Amino acid sequence: MQGVTKKGKGFPNLPYSAVIIDSTYSRLLFAARQCFSYHTESNRAGYLRQLQQLWTPTSNPNPVLPCLCVRTAFDLFLQIKNFPEGSEVIMTAINIRDMSLLVQHHKLRVVPVDMDIDTLDPDMALMERLVTQRTVAILVAHLYGRVINMEPVLALAQKHNLVVIEDCAECFSGFSHVGDPRSDITLFSFGIIKFSTSFGGGVAKVRDKKVYEKMLARHKQYPVQSCSMYLKKILKYIPLYSILHVWPFPTMVQKSREMGVDWKDTFVSFLRGFPSNMIQNIRYQPSSALLSVMARVQADFDPADLAVQRIKCEYFLSNLPPSLKVVGTKSQVNHFWLFPVVVEKPDLFIACLAAMGVDAYRGATQLNYIEPDGPNVPLGPPLPGQESLQPLTPEERYPYRCRELISRVVYMPVNKYVPFYMLEQMARVCRIVMLSLDGIRLHGSDTMAIETCKTIKSRL
Ligand SMILES: Cc1ncc(COP(=O)(O)O)c(C=O)c1O
Repeated sequence: MQGVTKKGKGFPNLPYSAVIIDSTYSRLLFAARQCFSYHTESNRAGYLRQLQQLWTPTSNPNPVLPCLCVRTAFDLFLQIKNFPEGSEVIMTAINIRDMSLLVQHHKLRVVPVDMDIDTLDPDMALMERLVTQRTVAILVAHLYGRVINMEPVLALAQKHNLVVIEDCAECFSGFSHVGDPRSDITLFSFGIIKFSTSFGGGVAKVRDKKVYEKMLARHKQYPVQSCSMYLKKILKYIPLYSILHVWPFPTMVQKSREMGVDWKDTFVSFLRGFPSNMIQNIRYQPSSALLSVMARVQADFDPADLAVQRIKCEYFLSNLPPSLKVVGTKSQVNHFWLFPVVVEKPDLFIACLAAMGVDAYRGATQLNYIEPDGPNVPLGPPLPGQESLQPLTPEERYPYRCRELISRVVYMPVNKYVPFYMLEQMARVCRIVMLSLDGIRLHGSDTMAIETCKTIKSRL
């Protein structure tokens, strides 16, 4: 996207959005072409072999299952594990709703555990206390491209003989980290807004060979996604890709935003996969076209691309005012899939940024916090030796920090495509917005803050 804004021109509006489609026209066209190509069984076996090879680095030899999406693999895993009804699954308390729906679909109980906003690690002290005689598994999600510390989770799981489900849907970073080999299953997503997207697709790595083979056998009974189903998605994504990334469309969208027409919610609703009948829609094998795209895109993975994303995000971060809280800055590893910040009044913050030409957004993901299921219904019986401990109250179990994060999160339009001088400009805008919000805290109104931002912009 070049030529849309000139350097050094005061504070021009920035035609960048909080989510990107990490792809190119030629990849989209390649995907469309694959839908019309004839793929023999031996071609299909070749794509699967290629994916197996890519996903089996020496650091993690666990077998690989390429599939339609993460939800397909998670559902398969739960089918095969067949945990007793009413068993408890401890989940880090932010995820997409479908992941907890899947747990519930298998008649299991979701037990959310709160997380730290700085590290995005689960609260391990709380997690330890949430383990009961009915706990069977722990599901941890690495959110926003931040990779959390798995050691304490794995140690706790080992101590109580629990299954570990590592949800890496948001943290694909190439093949040097393909999840912890000690996790029972690790899940990676290649949906439309993920890094290295193949416009769908997922990869699971399963530790136990027997479980893997059973999953594979069940998977083979699923109907195969038709090429036309995949093509329908591609045809939907081509205009979206253009709107987000191909000049002059982002500038046109930005102009319409200035005139009060904001298409973001409409665009984002287009990005959602399987809006209804989730279970029915995920029980498919991927089409050969999708497998061929996954194999091609993933074979072309370039770590330098990820490095650019990280460097730009770190650069932006280093220019931000300390008063602006960025999520996950203290996590062990950060691939900056998105750039979430937490503010006191998210709508006002967004309105002030918009007044200064920056398009931040609240609804960039489907992530939500997980409410405890039946908060007043006690968890399973305590573990032997812990009977004397006072049971956790619903208050103690409630994931307040996750609720706070989700209700106040704003996604900044920061990614590898934004030039450095615009990152600087956006950081300056953030400083001004924070100051103007500070200014109204005592005596001013929200409108005054927005008007102040508009005035500052017009005088630059
Ligand atoms: C944290 C997390 N888990 C699971 C999923 C589901 O991935 P998929 O769309 O591949 O089923 C997503 C995707 O949005 C996600 O962000």
